[in-house]
Amino acid sequence: MANAGNQWNVKRLAGALGAEITGLELASADEGDIAEIKRLLVEHMVLFFPGQHMSQDDHVAFGKPFGPLEGHPNLAERNISDHPEIFQLVGSQGGIADEWHTDLTFQAQPALMSILNMVQCPETGGDTMWTSLCAAFEALSPPLREMCEGLSALHDAHPHGVPEKMAIHPVVRVHPESGRKAIYVNEHFTRRIVEMSAPESVVFLRFLTDWVQSPRFTVRYHWTAGTIGMWDNRATQHYVLNDFEGERIIQRVTVMGDQPTGPGPRWAPWTENASRSAMSRHDRQLSGFLKERAAEAAE
Ligand SMILES: [Fe+2]
Repeated sequence: MANAGNQWNVKRLAGALGAEITGLELASADEGDIAEIKRLLVEHMVLFFPGQHMSQDDHVAFGKPFGPLEGHPNLAERNISDHPEIFQLVGSQGGIADEWHTDLTFQAQPALMSILNMVQCPETGGDTMWTSLCAAFEALSPPLREMCEGLSALHDAHPHGVPEKMAIHPVVRVHPESGRKAIYVNEHFTRRIVEMSAPESVVFLRFLTDWVQSPRFTVRYHWTAGTIGMWDNRATQHYVLNDFEGERIIQRVTVMGDQPTGPGPRWAPWTENASRSAMSRHDRQLSGFLKERAAEAAE
């Protein structure tokens, strides 16, 4: 049972996803509250709790019941030294993620969810947008859905300066709790559809990454300091509007994820130009990673 003293008020913010919740203090959430928040997160994909003003200790303690926490794997200098689970982004130091992405998809097990504490924000601007990758998948035509379900894609950490960190995930991920299917490619980390030629991949990936940004799949949230925002990283992407003056400081704890699963590839990887044509540069990264994985599997 959730805390008896709490009067939860859940207000949906858009058709596709997002809810704002008032009437409970997260720092004193009990087991029942956490179970209810987990349920609401699967239903709404992104939740906002204004007016929480959590301390760093409270923030970490609140995150722990959701699973093991991890600092940022590539940007460790932005993890807070006495709270290494907290990753801090400061707007004036370039911490503005203004490209649509799902967090950490270059990992074999990308983050399950993130819990963000808005420490300082401008009065106007600096909003964050989220998109429902499930709504985006469900709105595709049947032939395109069927093709997407037979594909996988290569992701890398090039935006963090470590392109050698790579992972391959299904293009359609099945949410382990809701069972809904999601388009699991993003413009920030996804490089290549594995089963397509490079020119086909460029066009099709562009279509999918543009498609998920259609306004009808999104919600946009205007922050106030002290708000906690949490999102299901298995079924969403997000984007920060770089349209503000003044400072914007966020602190985030990230819950470690699981291996994305989906219908899986129905075709072999397309790397036929890997070593014998002027096109080979487009296939080299993919074929190199596939060889590396095959060698690891044989060990
Ligand atoms: Fe992010």
